[in-house]
Amino acid sequence: MDYKKQIDNATSSKELDSLKIAIFGKKGFLASEFAKMKSVANDQKASFAKELNIFKQELTNHFEQKLEQITSKELQEKLENEKIDASKFDYKSELGAIHPVSATLNKIIDYFARLNFSIEEGPIIEDEFHNFEALNLPVFHPARDMQDTFYCNDGNLLRTHTSPAQIRKMENSSTPIKMIAYGNVFRRDFDITHTPMFTQVEGLVVAKKGEITFANLKHDLNEFLKHMFGDVKVRFRSSYFPFTEPSAEVDISCPFCKQKGCQVCSKTGWIEILGSGIVNQNVFKKVGYEDVSGYAFGIGVERIAMLTHNIKDLRSLFENDIRLLEQFR
Ligand code: PHE
Repeated sequence: MDYKKQIDNATSSKELDSLKIAIFGKKGFLASEFAKMKSVANDQKASFAKELNIFKQELTNHFEQKLEQITSKELQEKLENEKIDASKFDYKSELGAIHPVSATLNKIIDYFARLNFSIEEGPIIEDEFHNFEALNLPVFHPARDMQDTFYCNDGNLLRTHTSPAQIRKMENSSTPIKMIAYGNVFRRDFDITHTPMFTQVEGLVVAKKGEITFANLKHDLNEFLKHMFGDVKVRFRSSYFPFTEPSAEVDISCPFCKQKGCQVCSKTGWIEILGSGIVNQNVFKKVGYEDVSGYAFGIGVERIAMLTHNIKDLRSLFENDIRLLEQFR
């Protein structure tokens, strides 16, 4: 069998592998040639061995040359096949931006965190007790209509405000309490100033009876609104919430027209910014608190984002139109 020729004809390293065994292996061609020594006459053994060794060397060299040639060819092919087109990944990556609602929320949370308020969340799917009853809104209370509610089939509901987080906090801790809770809330509403989902930040401060008064509420919200809007006037307007008594809605002087009267403030010069009040004692009763006083407030985050970012239609905050979002880079 002409092994040199077989080596020449080999086209893959696999073929060479089996040839290697056939030629150089323990039971291979060369082994059997060397075995012939036995039957060679003694005086010829030396020259037979010499010739055979020369032949072995030749065959080995021939094999190794071929092996090198084939491996480098195969490597080349492999590189060619697995080539990555680096230009495919040559897209321009654009930096994103923080959504104005998130930016506003972060600013609010930051402010209260610095004042040592704890930061809470609470569940989005709530039960009637936490969302209404514990907040002094019993089943047939007409004020439930103030918040058109999405109900789940199991009787739970999508929370209509972050106030249930107050109840959950009080159920799980003792006084004094200084907390804010933030997150999404849901109401069946949709127009230029209402979306079915929006974001609230709730504040609650509770301490011993007589320690928290309306003056504390007024001072703390004044400072907060100065922090958010700079030099604006703040007005407390008497209002009604079942869970606070007395209650107040808080307005700031319109930052757009400086109270000359514009579309945003409906020519009144004032913009309503949050709801607040002294916590109704009925609420404390529901969580088993005695001899305490407290204040609470609720802020609409989108409302503040619209005012600080000069956005006219609330709904545009949720449309994710890239042309709007790009402006906040
Ligand atoms: N929960 C009220 C609302 O969503 C806001 C509020 C919170 C008012 C706390 C007073 C005190 O309308």
